[in-house]
Amino acid sequence: MNDSWEKLYAECNSCTACELHKTRTNCVFGVGNQQADILFVGEAPGDNEDKTGTPFVGRAGQLLDKYLYAVDIPRESVYIANILKCRPPKNRDPLPAEEDACIEFLRRQVRLIQPKLIVCLGRISAMRLIRPDFKITKEHGVWFEKGNFHITAVYHPALLLRDPRKKEEMLTDMQNIKAKLDELRGI
Ligand code: URA
Repeated sequence: MNDSWEKLYAECNSCTACELHKTRTNCVFGVGNQQADILFVGEAPGDNEDKTGTPFVGRAGQLLDKYLYAVDIPRESVYIANILKCRPPKNRDPLPAEEDACIEFLRRQVRLIQPKLIVCLGRISAMRLIRPDFKITKEHGVWFEKGNFHITAVYHPALLLRDPRKKEEMLTDMQNIKAKLDELRGI
């Protein structure tokens, strides 16, 4: 398929494949460097994201920014997207049918970006992109190989806001992600 960012963006913004289009303010397509070596994939937009059309701009996003800064990965150098492009009402978990309806947009984003690394933010993303029975508590920070990229999962920043005891593990995982990136870039 001869795909382009313009085509993908337009299709996403006019998508009516699931019920969530009825309640969205904005489609939250994704943001960042279209040639990024790392793609971060969250779950679904929240209220702030729905209002602004940009992923990870609320409190969870600000915490993610802090980790990126701490391990010296500029936010402008990465691409950030979600499994779902529209906000589920009251921030409930995505329904399998909503994920099925939306996942092709993410697949096309991956094909356009061709990242070296994919980092799942939280269990919903990991269960969709790594394995349906993925256990975030046991398997965060573990690397898997899929096609042309390496993939791992870290705790969702929103979980860290609720359970700050996990922040140390998150920092270790993020440091390992930076090390993997440097290794793949030959630094
Ligand atoms: N949580 C997510 O998973 N994605 C966002 O964009 C914001 C919060």
